[in-house]
Order: sequence, then structure tokens, then C-alpha cells
Amino acid sequence: MKPRILVTRATFPEVIERLRERFDVEDNQKDDTPWRGEELRRRLEDKDGVLSTGSDRIDAAVLDGAPRLKAVCNVAVGYNNIDLAACGERGVLATNTPEVLDDTTADTAWALLMAAARRITEAERWLRAGNWKEGWTYDRLLGQDVHHATLGIIGMGRIGQAMARRAQGFSMRVLYHNRRRAPKAVEKKLGARYASLDKLLRESDFVSLNLPYSPQAHHLIGARELALMKPTAVIVNAARGGIIDDAALVQALKERRVFAAGLDVFEGEPRFNPGFLELDNVALIPHIGSATRATRMKMNLLAVKNLTSALSGRRPPNLLNPEAWPKRKP
Ligand code: DGY
Repeated sequence: MKPRILVTRATFPEVIERLRERFDVEDNQKDDTPWRGEELRRRLEDKDGVLSTGSDRIDAAVLDGAPRLKAVCNVAVGYNNIDLAACGERGVLATNTPEVLDDTTADTAWALLMAAARRITEAERWLRAGNWKEGWTYDRLLGQDVHHATLGIIGMGRIGQAMARRAQGFSMRVLYHNRRRAPKAVEKKLGARYASLDKLLRESDFVSLNLPYSPQAHHLIGARELALMKPTAVIVNAARGGIIDDAALVQALKERRVFAAGLDVFEGEPRFNPGFLELDNVALIPHIGSATRATRMKMNLLAVKNLTSALSGRRPPNLLNPEAWPKRKP
């Protein structure tokens, strides 16, 4: 008997084919409707493993309904959808897909930074709406310079470092804030200086959030922090919804207390604060940070590797909860 697995969302057919070689697969290829709560719990009842995404909530209630479950393998670097402690207590191995998406996600964050600074999405809307009646004008859609400006990176992990590398190409000064200071050699290589959060917010022309979501990071950027930023500054979030207090950001953007924002992620997505839609000074995209075919394929294959290891008794390469390993189910 092959181990039974659930693949929660429609993915590349070749990934499903590969999984079928080893596993008895229940997939979602036809509908791709997200399975939530009771439905997810029911589908996991008889499964040994799951290939999940960042929007599948794997909590204690779901785990309690899945007594055979040995592994939860997220196709995402973020894992705030998984209750790691609950997995650990039940001997369920949890994994993510780090590294393979660093540059792609940094590219997206950089695109948002540029779009917000130079009003690219606003300019396109203006043009498409038939507003371009006169020729060139001096003051049309004036933005902020990116080159030679100061970039403040909050979260200096792999994606934060990829942002710092991009900043070098734009001759930028780079400040960063992180729970732990980076080694001197890393600071030197990236030309990045450590700063307190408040100093970074006060001095940066661009603020990029590149940290994972955690309860400690909830509303890390709220009204107080936005008030510290320059009125000419741009804030970019391609990390996770909930790190910014979106209601406070809408207010700050509306009152032009910050120049603009570029957002890939939102509190409560796929729903988001409707106030953003009324504003011109925000570039909005629907959580597509890692969305290139090549990168999504690498993420899938890494998750398949994690799942295959976990279900054949080997320690998966990207184990998030090592405390579950001694308690793993046979
Ligand atoms: C990630 O990998 O965490 C992306 O945000 C997709 O969920």
C-alpha cells in the first residue's frame, strides 16, 4: 500500500505525476477551490502527508482529525499557516521551501519599490483612462528617485540580503534592522549598516519588509512607525500580511504622510482593506512574490523532496520542528 497524501491546491501536472509514482494522491487539480476548516479536516482524516500552501490553515483541530498524518510540507518559505507547536506535540514533521525563491521574491519587492517610487501603476491607469491629451509636461507624475537614496531593510534574512544586493546596483545607502545583528562580514559585503527600527524609519527613503510573520511581528508597522517615516518615503511589503497595520497605512497614504506603498500581501487576504482601492499612491499585486514558473517548480520539487523523505523515515531537509523528529510516527 502506498502512503496516502493530499495536495491541497492545483499544481503543475508533472508534480502530481511524480507524486503518483510513490503515493496514493488526492489532488485538487479540477476545481482548485481552497479547502478550509471542516472540509480540510475531512480530507486529511486518512492521509499520511500533505503538500500544503501558505493559505491552508493547519492547526490543532485539523491535526486532531488526522491521526495518521506524519508530515505537513508547505510549498512556501513562510509557515505561519502551520501551528508548529501542535505539530511538534503530535509528532508531525513540518517543512517549508527556503532559498529557492529568494531572488524571485526580491525581484518582485524591487518591482514594487520602483513602481511605487515612480508611480508606474498610477501612470498606466492614467494613460489607459485616455487622459493623455497634451504632449510632454514638466510636472506630470513626478516620483521619487531610487538611485542614491537610502534603503531600510527590516528583516535581514536571505530575501533581505537579496534586496541589499539589488540596492548596490542603484548606488544606495543601506540600513537594516533585524532581531540579531548580521555578522560583520555580511554587513561589509552588502554595504549595510545596522540601525534601530526607529532610526531606520526616520532615515530611509525606502522601507522594505522582509521578515517572516510571527505574533511579535504583528503590526510592527503601525501609526506610530508610519509617523516616523519621511513624507517622501515609500514602504514595500512582499513578506506577509499583518506585519503592517493596513488601516493605519491607508490613513497615512490618504493624508500623504508617506509618499507611496507597494504591497504584495495584505491582512486577511484574499480580502483586503478597501481603502487601498481609493488611493493612487499604492501599487497593489495579489501575493505573487515567488510567481515565476521556474521558481514555483523549484518550490514544488523541494516540497516533494521533503514529503518523500518524511514518509520514508528520513529526516526531511527543511524540517521546521526538530522536536517532532524523536516523536515521529512510524
Ligand atoms: C512564501 O513562500 O511564503 C510565499 O509567500 C508563498 O506563500
